[in-house]
Amino acid sequence: MGYIQKTKNILKCLLCVPIALCVLYLTGPSMRYLVGFLPMDKCPLEKVDLLSLEYSVDATLDFGSRSDVQTCTSWKAPILWDGMFDPDLYDQTHRNEGTSVALTVFAVGRYLEAYLETFLSSSEQHFMLGLPVTYYVFTDLPEKMPDIKLAPQRSIKVIKVDRHSRWQDVSMMRMKTISEVIESDIRHHCTHVFCFDVDQVFTGRFGSEALGDSVALLHAHFYRLPKSLFTYDRNSKSKAYMEVGDFYYHAAVFGGSWKWVKALTEACYQGIMEDKKNKVEALWHDESHLNKYLWLHKPSRVLSPEYCWDPSIGNRSDIRVTRLQWAPKHYEALRTE
Ligand code: UDP
Ligand code: GAL
Ligand code: MN
Repeated sequence: MGYIQKTKNILKCLLCVPIALCVLYLTGPSMRYLVGFLPMDKCPLEKVDLLSLEYSVDATLDFGSRSDVQTCTSWKAPILWDGMFDPDLYDQTHRNEGTSVALTVFAVGRYLEAYLETFLSSSEQHFMLGLPVTYYVFTDLPEKMPDIKLAPQRSIKVIKVDRHSRWQDVSMMRMKTISEVIESDIRHHCTHVFCFDVDQVFTGRFGSEALGDSVALLHAHFYRLPKSLFTYDRNSKSKAYMEVGDFYYHAAVFGGSWKWVKALTEACYQGIMEDKKNKVEALWHDESHLNKYLWLHKPSRVLSPEYCWDPSIGNRSDIRVTRLQWAPKHYEALRTE
């Protein structure tokens, strides 16, 4: 091939890049819309009778009420969607059981000013209302804690943590801190623990129906995608490595009994440290390790993406209510490295 021809080809390729980017940018929203029409697996109704009940109130779950979505897993755990449960029955059950909930959230560096006040004040409107709740706020800036008016039976504990210089480490090292605080404090005061990212806002009931021994959340961007597109860690050198899985879970929300959350956070932390020793880092950091753990230890209860919705996906007919929403991410301004 002549020099001129070669140069022409290179120029053509270079020209294709911005054109492809424009096409992607313009078709992105409609792609996300079309993904909403991909079918989900179905919960075979006869299996529902065999569902292992965590609470007797689970027998009231209406698995057939949402024919548009998957309402149970292959291991017979419920996947909670609006319309399947009676909120009052769950609240009553947990009041009778004496359930108390710890909510952990990290607000390190600039994340505190950007998100914490909105997160906590919206949580006071929607998170586990009627149950005793203790917030465990981990921050390097306790003096900047916003003043939040709390309802009776609800309190905040502020715990000072170091600020890791890499944001990936801030995110991953949450696993270590959570497991330590469960051992030193939470286990003596609360029956359940829920762990949240701070960059989100409660917008609807996030109630006691979500409580169980081991609770994981379907990631809003993946619940209708084929498994081959799940962003598991595919590097066989990482402890988070996995080829196949059940779902793609989102690390922005997970929870369960204190015992189970302690086991999960400890295992993830160990995986993260082993990776550091081997000089590898999983693709989506703590989320990759969480997905690996949940593949090996199936959750007893799964939350639909109503429980952590990204409004940039747009309207979907299966999302009848949003209980928690992603807040806008401003990484350039918030992350130091
Ligand atoms: N985080 C923080 N400060 C940081 C980075 C992360 O407090 O500098 C905490 C915060 O709770 C945040 C979570 O770690 O929500 C996970 O990080 P991020 O939300 O940026 O990750 P993404 O949701 O984009 O994967
Ligand atoms: C993104 C999300 C990340 C991570 C990723 C997994 O949408 O912002 O936090 O969950 O998906 O592919
Ligand atoms: Mn986040």
